[in-house]
Amino acid sequence: MKLPSKVRIVEVGPRDGLQNEPMVGGQPVATAVKVELIERLADAGLPAVESTAFVSPKWVPQMADQAEVLRGIRRKPGVSYPVLTPNLKGFEAALAAGATEVAIFGAASESFSKRNINCSIAESLERFQPVADAAHAAGVKVRGYVSCVVGCPYEGPIAPRAVAEVAQRLHDMGCYEVSLGDTIGVGTPAGMQAMIEAVAARVPLAQLGGHYHDTYGMAAANIYASLEMGMATFDSSVAGLGGCPYAKGASGNVATEDVIYLLQGLGIETGVDLGALLDAGIFICGVLGKAPVSKAAQALAAKRAA
Ligand code: HMG
Ligand code: MG
Repeated sequence: MKLPSKVRIVEVGPRDGLQNEPMVGGQPVATAVKVELIERLADAGLPAVESTAFVSPKWVPQMADQAEVLRGIRRKPGVSYPVLTPNLKGFEAALAAGATEVAIFGAASESFSKRNINCSIAESLERFQPVADAAHAAGVKVRGYVSCVVGCPYEGPIAPRAVAEVAQRLHDMGCYEVSLGDTIGVGTPAGMQAMIEAVAARVPLAQLGGHYHDTYGMAAANIYASLEMGMATFDSSVAGLGGCPYAKGASGNVATEDVIYLLQGLGIETGVDLGALLDAGIFICGVLGKAPVSKAAQALAAKRAA
């Protein structure tokens, strides 16, 4: 099977990564740090940097400065800066802060939907429709997410047909792309391929993305398995930051450094400068007082130091 020659990476570290960072001394990561991180990631050549989430600060305190972050970014032409908007309230605030792309986020698991956004799958889809309509009327692009595409922290294994159903509904609402979230990183290649096959029967493969958390260390293998099926968009997080506050035990997204290293080795074009990306990861890890979990970042930093 011929792999895609180009892959689009959606960097989600400033949102998926930072949303799960514990408060340091009761303080969130400073707005200026978030803005600098986003700018560094865009300057490293990432075509899309998910920047923040217009969600309730009571639910996700790290995202409370969403409007300041979005307004503060020096925008690089050609780069998109999507933000999460679970409802109209979030969408209106995002639009007022200058959003040009938003994401609505559903789940293939009822229990996860309830814990994450406090409503059933059916209610969430009812809430997303007016968000998608308002966005399209305002000329704002809409991306969709489906969480728990292979497993749920509360319900266990999830049937591919449940994922396909929600993905199709998001596609029908006009999402230009649906990102398939292995929220707790439990997938392995054969199961991922079966799930993607079921979804691709209802949403064109070119409009699907992979959003794989690396809890069990399987994300790179799952990306390779997805590339084999022709998928060419993947979400990842610089330094492997991240997790989901409503998925106990979930660790970060696959690290962007690891994905770029893999794709470079396969001769697949991404437009990302690995050195500049490494610097962005070192910058944010310095602020957070931790080491990058990315193996590629650790190896590249050690090689630099030698
Ligand atoms: P709710 O409590 O059901 O909402 O929350 P409500 O409509 O009943 O309102 C309650 C209060 O929230 C009100 O304030 C509203 O104004 C306020 P009060 O009157 O009590 O002061 N509120 C808002 N405030 C700010 N922004 C808003 C907003 N909406 C209502 N947009 C809600 C529903 C969805 C807001 C809530 O459950 C929430 O914010 N959840 C957080 C969800 C989240 O951010 N999860 C993490 C991201 S998803 C993820 O990580 C998975 C992903 O990465 C893919 C994967 O890995 O699978 C995408
Ligand atoms: Mg995620």
